Amino acid sequence: MILSIESSCDDSSIAVTEIATQKIVYHKKISQEAEHSCYGGVVPELASRLHAVTLPRILAETKPWFGELKAVAVTNQPGLGVTLLEGIAMAKTLAVLEDIPLIPVHHLKGHIYSLFIEKETRFPLLVLLISGGHTQIIRVKDFGHMEILASSMDDSVGESFDKCAKMMGLGYPGGPLIEALAIKGDESRFNLPVPLRNSPLIAFSLSGLKNAVRLVVEKLGGAEKMTEQDKADLSASFQKAVKLHLLQKSKKIFAKEPIKDFAIVGGASANQYLRDAYEGLCREFGKTLHVAPLQYCSDNAAMIGRYAIDAYERKQFIDPNAIDIVSTKKQQAGMLL
Ligand code: KG4
Ligand code: ZN
Repeated sequence: MILSIESSCDDSSIAVTEIATQKIVYHKKISQEAEHSCYGGVVPELASRLHAVTLPRILAETKPWFGELKAVAVTNQPGLGVTLLEGIAMAKTLAVLEDIPLIPVHHLKGHIYSLFIEKETRFPLLVLLISGGHTQIIRVKDFGHMEILASSMDDSVGESFDKCAKMMGLGYPGGPLIEALAIKGDESRFNLPVPLRNSPLIAFSLSGLKNAVRLVVEKLGGAEKMTEQDKADLSASFQKAVKLHLLQKSKKIFAKEPIKDFAIVGGASANQYLRDAYEGLCREFGKTLHVAPLQYCSDNAAMIGRYAIDAYERKQFIDPNAIDIVSTKKQQAGMLL
């Protein structure tokens, strides 16, 4: 068994996965969304304190498997420094006390492995990763070769949903709230700019679109003055602009990349409107779309455990004294390191 821990943001999660069968024998995730909602985003200090209370409580439930643990895995990058440290401290302690190897896991690689939970690993793959912290297209050749083909130059897709929801006074996390409202809205009411539409750059940018939403909110007299229909129409118009932006840049990559399997992962990959759009694009380019089960799109320890199985086979262990969080700067390099 491998015990895996995830605490990179506002979800405290632990899983126990059987190495031989890839079966999840235990998985729990306690989200802090309710605690952060009134701030319209995650407050790192609060998140860290909540992990300190919740993680040990979840860990206590995994005691029945302690005798069978062959390794402990933990997300060590990227994420909020103060919350990553909570999971790392727990993982280090377990590794030392149980005398088992420690496996550091890159959170974004974990999201990619959410596709393989209780399944065989399947590469090569083109991946669109859309989460609260990242927006990237990654070419995954195999376990050790994950190359970033396009990235956001500013906000991520999830973040832009969260910020636009905040502007409209909807709450946090904004993604599911905007998606639900958009179903009732008219996506052609507000003519929002599709980012980088006339640019040859193969990159993403969401901050200009976010500002365009801000201007509409101001024009309508602020969130308090907006009607439910205004909010629904603006949500739908915003979501449409995000879709058009993602599709336009993805098309450029699809035209060049022969890899037939394409996947969308990360919290925002739960969005059905975006999934439907990519279903169409994949059909057009003769690619097959893969997505993770809905409960594994957002942060969870099951995906960390699944990645850890492949890392365990390759003996990718780290000395508990050497593990640390990795600064966000380093992740901008061309490869997911
Ligand atoms: O992957 P994730 O749980 O955490 C990070 O690694 O960042 O992603 C969280 C993000 C949030 O920004 C949330 O608003 C977004 O995923 N999200 C969605 C949807 N569900 C979650 N965005 C758009 N549509 C959704 N249905
Ligand atoms: Zn994530």
